[in-house]
Amino acid sequence: MSLTFEGRVVLVTGAGGGLGREYALAFAERGASVIVNDLGADTKGGGKSSAAADKVVEEIRAKGGKAVANYDSVEDGEKLIQSALDAFGRIDVLVNNAGILRDRSFARTSDLDWDLIHRVHLRGSFLVTRAAWNHMKNQKFGRIIMTTSGAGVYGNFGQANYSAAKLGLLGLANTLAIEGRKYNIYCNTIAPVAGSRLTETVMPPDLVASLKPEFVAPLVLWLCHEQCQENGALFETGAGWIAKLRWERSLGRTVRQKNQPMTPEAVRDQWDQICDFTDATKPTSLQESMMSIVSVLSQVESGGEVSGNPTAAAASSSGINPIEAVGTKLPPSSFSYTHIQCILYALGVGMSTKDPDHLRFLYEGHEDFVCLPSFGVIVAQSVLMEGGLTSVPGLNIDFTQVLHGEQYLELYKPLPTSGTLTSETTIADVLDKGSGAVILMDVKTFCGEELICFNQFSVFVVGAGGFGGKRSSDKAIAPLPPPQRAPDAVVIDSTSTDQAALYRLSGDWNPLHIDPSFAAMGGFQAPILHGLCSFGFAARHVLKQFADNDPSRFKAIKVRFAKPVMPGQSIQTEMWKEGNRIHIQCKVKETDAVVLTGAYVDLHGAAEASPEDPPQAGGLHSELVFAEIGRRIKDTGSELVKKVNAVFGWEITKDGKIAAQWTIDLKNGSGSLQKGPHSGKADVTITVSDEDFLEVVQGKLNPQKAFFSGKLKVRGNIMLSQKLEVILKDHAKL
Ligand code: NAI
Repeated sequence: MSLTFEGRVVLVTGAGGGLGREYALAFAERGASVIVNDLGADTKGGGKSSAAADKVVEEIRAKGGKAVANYDSVEDGEKLIQSALDAFGRIDVLVNNAGILRDRSFARTSDLDWDLIHRVHLRGSFLVTRAAWNHMKNQKFGRIIMTTSGAGVYGNFGQANYSAAKLGLLGLANTLAIEGRKYNIYCNTIAPVAGSRLTETVMPPDLVASLKPEFVAPLVLWLCHEQCQENGALFETGAGWIAKLRWERSLGRTVRQKNQPMTPEAVRDQWDQICDFTDATKPTSLQESMMSIVSVLSQVESGGEVSGNPTAAAASSSGINPIEAVGTKLPPSSFSYTHIQCILYALGVGMSTKDPDHLRFLYEGHEDFVCLPSFGVIVAQSVLMEGGLTSVPGLNIDFTQVLHGEQYLELYKPLPTSGTLTSETTIADVLDKGSGAVILMDVKTFCGEELICFNQFSVFVVGAGGFGGKRSSDKAIAPLPPPQRAPDAVVIDSTSTDQAALYRLSGDWNPLHIDPSFAAMGGFQAPILHGLCSFGFAARHVLKQFADNDPSRFKAIKVRFAKPVMPGQSIQTEMWKEGNRIHIQCKVKETDAVVLTGAYVDLHGAAEASPEDPPQAGGLHSELVFAEIGRRIKDTGSELVKKVNAVFGWEITKDGKIAAQWTIDLKNGSGSLQKGPHSGKADVTITVSDEDFLEVVQGKLNPQKAFFSGKLKVRGNIMLSQKLEVILKDHAKL
């Protein structure tokens, strides 16, 4: 579907030439009503003329587009927006583009050079945007572009005034992106490169001619379209190339020690580590940035100073001794529950009576009342919630710094809807990640003697790394990236404002999820949703989408917690089916932030081999092979249909007589296997004895040889038998 701007009103400032003109033409061509603003000044901001804007308006109208001119300076922001309202009644999109240059080496920069540049670029963009803001807010739609420059991002000789104003625009955009988000006002920044009158003095003429403004406009149009959910981002673009920029931060170094003055010498001595980008992080919000700084306070307080010999000092401060800790078994814990906890949990992870399919998880009187499989983390977590880790020798850590990093859950049977389960927890491994320590805890949960489920909790202890331990472990169950293709299914589900308040009743009492002042101490604007609550959302999305809400098909789930969700935001679960493994990724729909990564759910295959027709003792060997082929078609049928595109009939003989007939239809729908002859006509029919069929499948008998020796007969399109390999491969293991 092509992107249109029908019904949208777009204001482009400085649209009388260069990039702005190109934007105006492109928006108008796609149906927008455009206000072409241009003061008609010279490149230094002198003079004034209506000709520039008029010419572009004429061009648009000549092509049948809708446009009006505005000749005010961006310093009269209100007037620009007023002309949009007068002409078209609204304002949807604002491209802050107007600009001038007054290049001077820094020492020669006059007050006027500084002020004029700031007035047009930074103050002008501020004034026009402020005038548009409430209109966009009231209509709950707005798209704003700020135009920065490589000179601002990287600096450029002779452009101190311009660099400062241009990077000011990025700061402005970053905050507008935050303030506007909930009103569907998105603000992004571009650093373009294009040939124009501004660049013709600094670029060779052929470059000016080839770096066309039309290679920049499509990015601006996409960012301003209602479909685009990008917000608060920065892009470099030119010549048809577009790239996104972000901040990177070195792991850094704490150079202060408890009860000791901080000195410039300590800074000097650790300079290399401070500036070392190995294991750099990429903070995306002030909260994230603040969190690491606030965590240093308690790290230093607890004696976690880092001195000239980082490894030795950190080891003593964090007090982690893997040799002592690994293998420790925590005292067994028991968890008793009734249907009430199962239902409370289901509500906590967003189930609702609005969906009739959810009733079996919410109503104990339902004929199929069951417990959600992801409740398996609740039955196992009690030992950790009760502070079990504090008793582990060799784990002398600051418990306020513990974050939940990853979770794995595997079920061996569906969870009972009530009972008393006991859990045994072992410290499986402790890893040194530099910036922190990872503790892997394996929890086995039993009902009586019977093992019901296995959990691996992976927690990250901020600031507890550097004790000289290993970085990875063969005990860790690793997250897996999703396939590169677009997801096979996407489910969007809203959380309620009280989601965390409800979820915590299942036993995670951390005040971070309910107490605003506690959350603020952790650097969050408000209490955050439990990671395991999003985990529950994702698990049930897969259960519904791919397992018909049948808990007995749920085998295992793995997730990595990347970012928090705020109660009230929507969780978007993207799913990729690869056989019985469903890869998942969860995002916050409103911000596009990825919150669960490397995640997957493993399902048990549906019972394809029809239960009323099990392979009987003394029956045909080929039954088993066809059952497996049936499973494969269920999993990858659509791919096989594409590859094979034919209907195969099979006649399996025993003692010279046809004992069974099968049809493998890899032509219609997403493929199917059916016992019996094809209702229409198979493209090719293969007759083979049960024993020979097994030999072929096991690779012991070459199909061609079997054909030439008469053991395997083919009727119909003989060429198609070459595609048998696609169907039969991988069955040798049977
Ligand atoms: P341009 O000079 O062709 O276009 C700028 C337009 O803004 C002119 O038509 C001018 O009359 C108008 N203008 C100036 N002061 C104004 C005011 N007070 N009110 C209303 N209109 C005013 O330049 P170009 O290259 O198209 O630049 C567009 C934007 O892109 C500018 O903000 C510039 O700083 C930025 N930029 C351009 C780069 C390039 O390679 N062309 C590189 C980096 C940034």
